[in-house]
Amino acid sequence: MTRLKRKTSVASSSMMVFPNDTNDFGTMYGGKLIEIMDMVGGICARRFTGTKAVTASIEDMQFNKPINKGDIIEISSKVIWTGNRSLIVKTKVTKEGYTEEKVICARAYFCFVAINMEGVPVGIPELIVESEKEIKNYNIGQEIRNRQMLEEKRFQIELEQNL
Ligand SMILES: CC(C)(COP(=O)(O)OP(=O)(O)OC[C@H]1O[C@@H](n2cnc3c(N)ncnc32)[C@H](O)[C@@H]1OP(=O)(O)O)[C@@H](O)C(=O)NCCC(=O)NCCS
Repeated sequence: MTRLKRKTSVASSSMMVFPNDTNDFGTMYGGKLIEIMDMVGGICARRFTGTKAVTASIEDMQFNKPINKGDIIEISSKVIWTGNRSLIVKTKVTKEGYTEEKVICARAYFCFVAINMEGVPVGIPELIVESEKEIKNYNIGQEIRNRQMLEEKRFQIELEQNL
C-alpha cells in the first residue's frame, strides 16, 4: 500500500498570563508553559496524523526570556519531521507587552508518537518537504532523531548497569 503524504500541519493559541500562572516574583512558571506548549503541539500532531498522539519526549527546551504577569503569549507549532510512527513538532512561544513588538521567549521540539485506541504505535503520513525553510527544518528534525537514538542506547546501558 502506498504511504499517504501530507503538507505540514500547524496549531496556535494565545493567552494572557495571570497571577495563577506565575511565581512569587511575577514571572511565568516553566512547567505551566511546557504544559501549554505540549497541548498546542499535541493538537498540531493530531491534525497531521489524524490519530491520537502521545508525547514521547521533549527536546531542546529553552526558556530564553522571562514572561511577566500581564504579558500576552502566543504559542505556535508546526510539524517539521516525520518518521514511520513518530513526528517532531517545533513549538515557539512569543510574548508581547504593551507594544506590538513580539519577542521569542521559549521554544522546544516535541516528539509525538501516533497510537491507536489500544495505545499501540501506528503508521502516519509522510511529511511533504518542498521549500528551503521546510528542508532546513526537516534536517533539524533528523538531527534531533539521530541524537535521540544515541541517547536511547546510552539509557539502555545505564539500565543494564543499574547506574
Ligand atoms: C511513546 C510510546 C507509545 C512508544 O511506544 P513503544 O512501544 O516504545 O514504541 P516503539 O519502540 O515501537 O516505537 C514507535 C515509534 O516511537 C518512537 N519513540 C519511542 N520512544 C520514543 C521516545 N522516547 N522519544 C521519541 N520517539 C520515541 C520510535 O522511534 C518509533 O518511531 P518511528 O516508527 O517513527 O521510527 C510509549 O513509550 C508510551 O506510551 N509512552 C508514554 C507516553 C505518555 O504517556 N506521554 C505523556 C507524558 S506523561
